[in-house]
Amino acid sequence: MDYPIWDSGLSGGVLMAWVAITHVIVSHFAIGGGLLIVVTETLAIRRADREMRELARRSSLVLILVSTVFGAISGVGIWVVAGLISPGAISALIHAYVWGWAIEWVFFVLEIVAALIYYTTWDRITKQAHVLVGWLYFIGAYLSMVIINGIVTFMLTPGRWLETRAFWDGFFNPTYWPSLVLRTGICVLMAVAFMLWPAFTASPGRRTDLVRYLGWWFLGGALVSYAGYRWWEAVLPDTVTALFLGEAPTLVGLAATRSFALWSLALGLALGVLALLVAPRAARAVTAVALMAAIFAFFGGYERLREGVRKPFLIHSHLFSNGLLVDQIDEINATGLAAHSGWVAAGDPAPEARGRRIFAAQCAACHTLDGYQSITEALPTVADLELVATPSSTGMDRLAYQAECASCHADVAHAEMVEMLPSIEEIRSDPDAIRELNLGMITATVMQLKEMGEEITAFDRSVMFDMRTLERGTMPPFVGSDEEAEALAVYLASLDRTPDAASGDAR
Ligand code: HEC
Ligand code: HEC
Repeated sequence: MDYPIWDSGLSGGVLMAWVAITHVIVSHFAIGGGLLIVVTETLAIRRADREMRELARRSSLVLILVSTVFGAISGVGIWVVAGLISPGAISALIHAYVWGWAIEWVFFVLEIVAALIYYTTWDRITKQAHVLVGWLYFIGAYLSMVIINGIVTFMLTPGRWLETRAFWDGFFNPTYWPSLVLRTGICVLMAVAFMLWPAFTASPGRRTDLVRYLGWWFLGGALVSYAGYRWWEAVLPDTVTALFLGEAPTLVGLAATRSFALWSLALGLALGVLALLVAPRAARAVTAVALMAAIFAFFGGYERLREGVRKPFLIHSHLFSNGLLVDQIDEINATGLAAHSGWVAAGDPAPEARGRRIFAAQCAACHTLDGYQSITEALPTVADLELVATPSSTGMDRLAYQAECASCHADVAHAEMVEMLPSIEEIRSDPDAIRELNLGMITATVMQLKEMGEEITAFDRSVMFDMRTLERGTMPPFVGSDEEAEALAVYLASLDRTPDAASGDAR
């Protein structure tokens, strides 16, 4: 909350997703590719198999380009984007893990240096020395995943860290080992899908057995991934699995993502076994593309699931996605948000203008105005109210109620609501009153979000929270003074562009 706001009009989350997707694909590929290439070269030397060594050599250029160029650019990209959209989160992660990042960087340097040497010294140094460099590359790359995995898994399941705040409790958290196994499997799968291309160009006599050789890797990678995934699910706390598993998952979309991911893996496995092990002669470019698609679908599905079940937190039960620390809730409510944010404090003091800055600080991490997770869609408008209040023979009034009101008024039926609303004639003759009602609803909603903060601070702070007990547990609470809550509501109500009924609204 204490940092400048990057108010770009883009959804920060969507931007981050694109950069992060690029980066995780590239980085897993760089690790798996390193393993496959160096094992292939080692076997080739042992068996004096020239063709196999060529496969390793042909694969190494792309690997080096991808890991050094794309890996480095997208890795830096993540820091830049994350620093812009969630400076609070970056700060919290650095406070907890500064040595983790430092170690990560050392391994990354090892990886890059070894990659460059490896690629440039084919047949220039002894075979043994060359293989050694290859292993150094793989070890550097893998160890960087060993480190980063501790930080990424910590964000979803901080485990005992919540109580002890000890580095290693957070690092070796409940999902650490399952995730490492799962990611190791994914690294191998990605590498196979890529190495099929150079394998296809091997001499006709060897193509089949090189494809089959990669098929065994694929089978192993798929089984390890599956085992890692199931283990990951098994160690997640019930409060998290309830979101996407069981008869009635809380987040139906995430349950669908899970099935999508697992079916993609099953499909990839079946195809891989058939095309690479059973009938390797028939493997074609289209096989490699199909395998790659299945792996991306599985991997992407898993990452989405992992991110999705963590919402609304960046670090579960500690730091919300908008940079608000659970520890700060009481204090900001007492002192006001302006005391914590120069950006909210500065500028035009009129409520609407101030509300706009409060929205940018607290809500814009997840809501855009009209695009993804649109706030204007979520809020009631005067036009919605008029529609509900207008008796309709085609049932438009009831439909409008279901679509625009029921999410906040689940316990009130349409007929009951009409009783409480002024009639459409009254609305027409006194348009200010209905604007007043709308502003009142929005203010009440923000106040409910503020009360949610009190419920959250009453939770047991030494274990992961069960957000399902809250009415809007997919969102952080609103924090700030009551005056700020009202300013935010005034701004949100001003987004309603319904023309005034009195000025001749032709419905
Ligand atoms: C961590 C992301 C996140 C942040 C930050 C966030 N929201 Fe939300 N908000 C959501 C999600 C997700 C939903 C959809 C909830 C659902 O469909 O169950 C939502 C829904 C809403 C709704 C509709 C509520 C309903 O019950 O239909 C309103 C209103 C809203 N948000 C207002 C705000 C305001 C105001 C802020 C800033 C103080 C804010 N949100 C901050 C994620 C967020
Ligand atoms: C984002 C949540 C939200 C949406 C969407 C919403 N409301 Fe409300 N509404 C509230 C809140 C909060 C209150 C005041 C608290 C309460 O008593 O429920 C309220 C109060 C009301 C009241 C006054 C009730 C009373 O007790 O006097 C009426 C009437 C009403 N809403 C009608 C509607 C209609 C019609 C729609 C759809 C066009 C709608 N609301 C959509 C949140 C919402």
